Amino acid sequence: MVSPGQKVVLITGCSSGIGLRMAVMLAKDEQKRYHVIATMRDLKRKDKLVEAAGDAYGKTLSLAVLDVCSDESVKQCINGIKDRHVDVLINNAGIGLVGPVESIPIEEMKKVFETNVFGVIRMIKEVMPDMKKRRGGHIIVVSSVMGLQGVVFNDVYAASKFAMEGFCESLAVQLLKFNVTLSMIEPGPGAHRV
Ligand SMILES: NC(=O)c1ccc[n+]([C@@H]2O[C@H](COP(=O)([O-])OP(=O)(O)OC[C@H]3O[C@@H](n4cnc5c(N)ncnc54)[C@H](OP(=O)(O)O)[C@@H]3O)[C@@H](O)[C@H]2O)c1
Repeated sequence: MVSPGQKVVLITGCSSGIGLRMAVMLAKDEQKRYHVIATMRDLKRKDKLVEAAGDAYGKTLSLAVLDVCSDESVKQCINGIKDRHVDVLINNAGIGLVGPVESIPIEEMKKVFETNVFGVIRMIKEVMPDMKKRRGGHIIVVSSVMGLQGVVFNDVYAASKFAMEGFCESLAVQLLKFNVTLSMIEPGPGAHRV
């Protein structure tokens, strides 16, 4: 249950890594400022998150299924939220791909773009119109330092993050007049281990 004054924060890709850590950190906020909807594509992978959340689970943290690559899953998740009200959308779900371009099938490359680019855009398309109507909201996109600089053998991953940099830079300006903020985070390698 969301308490009055709490911000609803929806995070994608919370089964591990940065998403899991962000969900736990926000749900354990001492002032209880956030109600975190921690989403993942397969709830069978929830145990690590539930354990790390401890007492916050069921109070300031709830779980929901969400596959960023599926229109139906995204719609179902957002429609399941009271009044579809999301104050902060954190687009964290992402996949990597390392290797020489000539050895990677195009289908593998497409999966990276489906998740890192169209997955994020699908989320924004679903949540942004409500934020615009309410004249308020914050969209966060977890990019990478490889969204700013290419790295050998990370060609396709870097390209997917560069794509999001261009997308967000353009969209952020349009959202200003609706009082919706769009931020990007560009973590370096090994970010979730700190
Ligand atoms: N860790 C770093 O050093 C670093 C550095 C720069 C940027 N980043 C970025 O940070 C974000 C999180 O990465 P991470 O390092 O924490 O990696 P991670 O531990 O592999 O976490 C990625 C998360 O995304 C989820 N995911 C993948 N495809 C999905 C889909 N179709 N729908 C919903 N969720 C999906 C994974 O779920 P499953 O468990 O179901 O696979 C997992 O929960 C990514 O966008 C990544 O590019 C990370």
